Amino acid sequence: MVAPTPADKFSFGLWTVGWQGRDPFGDATRPELDAVDAVHRLAELGAYGLSFHDDDLIPFGASATERDRRIERLRTALAETGLVVPMVTTNLFTHPVFKDGGFTSNDRQVRRFAMRKVLRNVELAAELGARTYVLWGGREGAEYDSAKDVRAALDRYRESVDVLTGFVRDRGYDLRFAIEPKPNEPRGDILLPTVGHALAFITTLAHPELVGVNPEVGHEQMAGLNFAHGVAQALWHGKLFHIDLNGQRGIKYDQDLVFGHGDLMNAFALVDLLENGGPDGAPAYDGPRHFDYKPSRTEDFAGVWDSAAANMRTYLLLRERARAFRADPDVREALATAGVDELRTPTLSAGETYTDLLADEAKFDADRAGERGYGFVRLNQLALEHLIGAR
Ligand code: GCO
Ligand code: MN
Ligand code: MN
Ligand code: MN
Repeated sequence: MVAPTPADKFSFGLWTVGWQGRDPFGDATRPELDAVDAVHRLAELGAYGLSFHDDDLIPFGASATERDRRIERLRTALAETGLVVPMVTTNLFTHPVFKDGGFTSNDRQVRRFAMRKVLRNVELAAELGARTYVLWGGREGAEYDSAKDVRAALDRYRESVDVLTGFVRDRGYDLRFAIEPKPNEPRGDILLPTVGHALAFITTLAHPELVGVNPEVGHEQMAGLNFAHGVAQALWHGKLFHIDLNGQRGIKYDQDLVFGHGDLMNAFALVDLLENGGPDGAPAYDGPRHFDYKPSRTEDFAGVWDSAAANMRTYLLLRERARAFRADPDVREALATAGVDELRTPTLSAGETYTDLLADEAKFDADRAGERGYGFVRLNQLALEHLIGAR
């Protein structure tokens, strides 16, 4: 039950298990990890997918021969293990050329370079069969308000995404884009900082149907927001194209902890939503369960693989706990008391008008309705008890 299999669709960024532990204060604490080893280890642990930035696989500036060699080694490892590449993304943040951003750099030549870098990698993504292309604009932003014309930057962001969707349409690629919001870090303020900002931006695009979001647990939580709510709204808009699972403890720097090692109650609500939130309790999301975390820099390679396994195990345990929660008769009763299902009934009946509604005034006793106890705390305690295995 808690042993992951490819059917669970767990995937990992090559940059996650491959993170060497460099932070703003300290050097690497681990040696480089070969992509081929990563593929083999992840497959052994029960994962189904690997994602990567172009530069994770092919060092920035590598020759065409070196690029081909690296891609071929990856293809062989994928063939040997059955691992797939569901998602690919671009590094538009490490090289100094991107210090003021990629798509929204004030420097037009940098913007053109950034777009070429993405287009080349979109070709690779399509060749490898990826269905989602993530756009994380970590350097698209500013530290100083006078240094960035935000409306012009959004024009350039839109222009870039429109070029990308035009490209996949012309090429006939079966690939959609997913914008990953983040409020800050590395920039002081990043453009499209939350799920809500990204959803609004998408409505302005030439091909909004090809663009959705890739919300990350910690990124919404860095902004003090409820991640499960953000994901629910993304689902409501039909825009949850991909998801980055990890852990974060409150409003501070991006921790990228193991999934569940942050706000565990919210992680429970999230898994319940993804797994049981569809019609008649079916899953609400069928894409990859993608972990974007960092094995803490205190860990050696044994700790890296322990942490990779921990992400999947935590997800499966929460899935099991969420199912038990839904099946518990006490929970069903508490949900009824809380009126959770009642919210699904439209406020006006079929055929009713505002005139009928206005005429209903005399029948409603606000004081009496105000006396209702919703029992939300009891319901939440039941969730907690299922979560910690007390029921
Ligand atoms: C972060 C982000 C990045 C992106 C990744 C995809 O932790 O700030 O999650 O890791 O997800 O770069 O482009
Ligand atoms: Mn993060
Ligand atoms: Mn991420
Ligand atoms: Mn990350």
